[in-house]
Amino acid sequence: MDPNLQASGPAPYPSPHQSPHQFPPLPRPVQGGPVPTRPGAEQSGWAHSGPALSGHALSGPALSGHALVKRFGTTVALDGVSLTVTRGESVAIMGPSGSGKSTLLHCLAGIMRPDTGEVVLHAGDQGGTDQRVDTMSERARSHLRRSRFGFVFQFAQLLPELPAEENIALPLMLGGVARRTAVEQAQRWLAPLGLAGLQKRRPGELSGGQAQRVALARALVTEPSVVFADEPTGALDQATGEETMGLLVSATRRNGAALVVVTHDPQVARACDRTVEVRDGRLLATGDGPMAVPGGRR
Ligand SMILES: Nc1ncnc2c1ncn2[C@@H]1O[C@H](COP(=O)(O)OP(=O)(O)OP(=O)(O)O)[C@@H](O)[C@H]1O
Ligand SMILES: [Mg+2]
Repeated sequence: MDPNLQASGPAPYPSPHQSPHQFPPLPRPVQGGPVPTRPGAEQSGWAHSGPALSGHALSGPALSGHALVKRFGTTVALDGVSLTVTRGESVAIMGPSGSGKSTLLHCLAGIMRPDTGEVVLHAGDQGGTDQRVDTMSERARSHLRRSRFGFVFQFAQLLPELPAEENIALPLMLGGVARRTAVEQAQRWLAPLGLAGLQKRRPGELSGGQAQRVALARALVTEPSVVFADEPTGALDQATGEETMGLLVSATRRNGAALVVVTHDPQVARACDRTVEVRDGRLLATGDGPMAVPGGRR
């Protein structure tokens, strides 16, 4: 692990779970050398969360939506939206209820096909080619969602009968990783997300914040290229939500993943690098940086 990834400044949402020593290096090969720290990450205070990370370079586009249009009957949910997220970047999508935020997230994530427009998952540093998500078959999109994307929802949506470690390991097991290996990988996410000692607890034995941190770990365990979160703190109290959001932003950034967060909460948006606002299916404006104003003035 690159020691430079330790936080050098106070986190906006200080967490009792965060300490400089809780991110053990993973025993897997690091490709491409040390992870370059995203410019500005040090100042943000979010540079040190998440176990890991491989040699993802934190630059270049991760995912692009271009001129996305989506109609439901006569409702135009998306009316020509274009949005690109870069690797290591966190983008908040804000806007009134019914403005098209979730529809945008679903189109970008390959959950839903736009009527027109393109969604491109860009090739990583390790080679490969750009992939058109919007033209893929349902089956291919399903595979892509499991292998390249991570998801966090408002409610943790854990499987109640499985202990935390198996809930976290689930996406790996669905991808064919043996249970024991998957659980071992899952366990690496416990301490960084403040879940040490809770691996055997079932969801009913966890607090709301703990359950949502299990959901974060589940979203991150496959080391996705993009993490999508729809109101990830909506069911949590303010303090727990801020802490959870801080962990989500820092862990995705540290993994070199892009993060797309739909939220109504300006505090959540402030934790992101950039905010875009959707109104009536269109992107209004964007604001950059932690002080980005919803509705964006630049
Ligand atoms: N499956 C659907 N069938 C019909 N209309 C839909 C469907 N999904 C969304 N819509 C409509 O599309 C528009 C955008 O919905 P969307 O869920 O994207 O809004 P949102 O910004 O996420 O709202 P909220 O903040 O309430 O979650 C709304 O008018 C909604 O009623
Ligand atoms: Mg929504």
